[in-house]
Amino acid sequence: MSDVGLLRLLQLQRKQKNMCNLTLCFLLVLTCSSSSLSLCPAHCSCESTVVNCVSQNLSSIPQPLPENVTTLNLSGNNIRNLNNESFPRTLEHLTHLYVSGSQVERLDSMVFKNLPNLRLLDFSNNRISEFNVEALPQDSKIEVLNLSKSLFNHSYIGVFADLFRRSLPKVSHLDLSNNDLMFLPEGIFTDLSNLAVLDMRNNTLVSFSNETFWNRALKELDLRDNALKVLPNMTLAGLSLIPDLRVSLAGNPWRCNCDVEDMLIWLEKHDFVVDRLNLTCSDPTELKNVPLLHLEQSQLQCWSNAEDVERALEPSYVFLGMVLALIGVIFLLVLYLNRKGIKKWMYNIRDACRDHMEGYHYRYEINSDPRLASLSLNSDV
Ligand SMILES: *[C@@H]1O[C@H](CO)[C@@H](O)[C@H](O)[C@H]1NC(C)=O
Ligand SMILES: *[C@@H]1O[C@H](CO)[C@@H](O)[C@H](O)[C@H]1NC(C)=O
Ligand SMILES: *[C@@H]1O[C@H](CO)[C@@H](O)[C@H](O)[C@H]1NC(C)=O
Ligand SMILES: *[C@@H]1O[C@H](CO)[C@@H](O)[C@H](O)[C@H]1NC(C)=O
Ligand SMILES: *[C@@H]1O[C@H](CO)[C@@H](O)[C@H](O)[C@H]1NC(C)=O
Ligand SMILES: *[C@@H]1O[C@H](CO)[C@@H](O)[C@H](O)[C@H]1NC(C)=O
Ligand SMILES: *[C@@H]1O[C@H](CO)[C@@H](O)[C@H](O)[C@H]1NC(C)=O
Ligand SMILES: *[C@@H]1O[C@H](CO)[C@@H](O)[C@H](O)[C@H]1NC(C)=O
Ligand SMILES: *[C@@H]1O[C@H](CO)[C@@H](O)[C@H](O)[C@H]1NC(C)=O
Ligand SMILES: *[C@@H]1O[C@H](CO)[C@@H](O)[C@H](O)[C@H]1NC(C)=O
Repeated sequence: MSDVGLLRLLQLQRKQKNMCNLTLCFLLVLTCSSSSLSLCPAHCSCESTVVNCVSQNLSSIPQPLPENVTTLNLSGNNIRNLNNESFPRTLEHLTHLYVSGSQVERLDSMVFKNLPNLRLLDFSNNRISEFNVEALPQDSKIEVLNLSKSLFNHSYIGVFADLFRRSLPKVSHLDLSNNDLMFLPEGIFTDLSNLAVLDMRNNTLVSFSNETFWNRALKELDLRDNALKVLPNMTLAGLSLIPDLRVSLAGNPWRCNCDVEDMLIWLEKHDFVVDRLNLTCSDPTELKNVPLLHLEQSQLQCWSNAEDVERALEPSYVFLGMVLALIGVIFLLVLYLNRKGIKKWMYNIRDACRDHMEGYHYRYEINSDPRLASLSLNSDV
């Protein structure tokens, strides 16, 4: 009996051991599979489908990223270069990608080829000097592109013109603020048929044409804090043709002379400039900070044309005088240094003259009557 009981006990223990092994194995398999699919990468924290890898001094995109990631925040890192290896696996669900303030300099071709459903791309606060035209797929679904303070070289905007045209058919909100942009290529936004909000705040635009922002979809255009001094009729007419456009223009150094009159008429008649009450003069000094819409006609003075020309010529007259004086001094110096030669030369001339005159007198005396000849001889003495 005791032998049988012992056997049973042993069998039972073995069974339990097997079951233990099985569950252990199961757990192991589970963790293994889950880690290969969607374990949170090192230096990141994952909450549901949001992956945060903020300010970790990462120099590349952490791998592997969970397959179900929808939002990835990589702000505040040190990712100088993104290339076709940065996102090696297709992330079907990734829609929001933030790479702000991460020292990004280069984006090579095909960077985003594995992110087919990106809707928002934030590359603000970087110093991009190379953004390959083929970095984004041609049919990208990007709706919001943030390039605020991200261009290393303001001349680089020309390349973006091609990129926008090629790769941003769906973009509706484009942030190009704080980039020190001085000019915009003609028609850079024309083909973005969904572009509703365009932020150009705090650049250094001096002027733009009636075609620059021509885009029927545009609803909000922020041109505050640029370097605009006056907008001519045609430019304003161009803006007013965009059906639902609202423009912000405050913080520009408006020059309040007679040239601004046309613009004032526009501001009074049309209300597409939403902050028109906030526009103030910065030039001339006596009108500094006066709101444009408080100006009186009599305050808007220009130099008359004659005065203008005089003012322009004043410095050149001074310069001309100085040049002439210098030439005079040099001339006198040359004369002085050559004084002996000149003396000799003058004597030579005098002698030649005398010879000539004598010959003349001789002929004259022969040909004329003696009374006149004696007279002329007397006058010669
Ligand atoms: C995404 O994957 C992670 C890791 O496996 C998981 O914890 C999370 O629940 C998943 N989220 C969704 C919405 O499936
Ligand atoms: C960040 O990483 C770079 C190299 O990638 C290193 O030189 C630097 O010291 C790191 N900075 C910090 C604050 O850890
Ligand atoms: C990404 O992280 C930065 C730094 O913590 C934070 O300021 C920013 O709001 C985050 N962005 C999103 C969309 O969560
Ligand atoms: C990635 O780019 C490198 C160099 O530009 C190229 O040699 C390589 O074939 C590319 N890889 C893929 C998967 O496109
Ligand atoms: C772009 O980024 C800047 C700085 O990170 C932020 O202030 C701004 O609101 C962002 N613009 C958009 C459209 O999200
Ligand atoms: C800026 O870009 C222009 C044109 O792309 C180039 O000629 C110029 O050298 C660049 N300047 C700097 C400082 O990189
Ligand atoms: C304006 O943009 C410049 C860079 O072009 C930046 O340094 C400055 O901080 C910005 N000013 C504001 C008020 O954002
Ligand atoms: C601008 O338009 C106004 C009428 O809207 C017109 O009186 C004025 O002469 C125009 N100015 C110029 C420079 O064409
Ligand atoms: C801009 O002005 C030019 C010259 O007057 C004109 O031919 C063109 O149609 C205008 N464009 C727009 C979009 O108003
Ligand atoms: C005008 O400026 C004031 C003070 O800076 C500001 O509160 C207000 O929002 C501005 N108005 C518009 C329409 O931007």
